[in-house]
Amino acid sequence: MKIALVGGTGDIGTGFAMRWAIAGHDVIIGSRKAEKAMESAKGTLDLLGGAGGKVRGMDNARAIKAGEVIVLAVPYEHLNSVTLGLKDAYTTQIVVSPVVPMEYSGKFFKFVPPMEGSAAIQAKGLLPDSVKLASAFHTISASALQDKSRVLKGDTLICGDDAEAKEVVKALAKDIKDLRPIDAGPLNASSMVESLTPMLLNIARRNKMKDAGIKIVEERQI
Ligand SMILES: NC(=O)c1ccc[n+]([C@@H]2O[C@H](COP(=O)([O-])OP(=O)(O)OC[C@H]3O[C@@H](n4cnc5c(N)ncnc54)[C@H](OP(=O)(O)O)[C@@H]3O)[C@@H](O)[C@H]2O)c1
Repeated sequence: MKIALVGGTGDIGTGFAMRWAIAGHDVIIGSRKAEKAMESAKGTLDLLGGAGGKVRGMDNARAIKAGEVIVLAVPYEHLNSVTLGLKDAYTTQIVVSPVVPMEYSGKFFKFVPPMEGSAAIQAKGLLPDSVKLASAFHTISASALQDKSRVLKGDTLICGDDAEAKEVVKALAKDIKDLRPIDAGPLNASSMVESLTPMLLNIARRNKMKDAGIKIVEERQI
């Protein structure tokens, strides 16, 4: 698939670009500056060291127009301005939000949801009605993704109201070895999933764990 990463020059964007290029996707790194995106694409290909695939860089608007799936890989603070500013570039793409609205108080990470309830619902309201949005990948660490030899042990919880978008995102999750996608309900449930990230960061810090993730276990085998 053609996957465009808005703000793909950042931490999670680089991780996604690596993993999905290895899986054979056509990855487009987006940036506010086309040059920065092209440099980032080159750097990502260097990190892959011949292990994959197709990675290109262009400005965010061109990346969105070229993409079939668009990942909003920007910090929550810029979600509003970036998404509104690029609204005209969207048509009927599938949009994925891994965005987590959170703050660090100096002592611990805190979930700070917007008025809409979650970053995903906020993003949906900023985008044209014709796009299909799902939220996913909130609890996956960028450094785990960027370590291309690392097999992921956790799950990713996916929320959305559009069945096609959810299926596409599930398939993209499965392309990241051995990440397991789990359906976590409608978009209205995204706030609960987004809130897991600050929780995991607090747990990781207090228990000296690296890249803490989420795994849903079935205690009773049928
Ligand atoms: N990092 C993680 O481990 C992780 C895990 C799960 C979910 N997430 C979520 O993924 C999203 C991206 O996280 P990240 O850690 O990759 O972020 P990041 O590295 O801090 O930033 C990503 C990109 O956002 C763009 N950006 C920065 N400031 C901007 C501004 N003022 N206006 C417009 N664009 C701006 C930059 O791209 P250009 O300068 O190239 O435009 C930057 O490379 C966040 O919403 C986060 O909650 C992150």
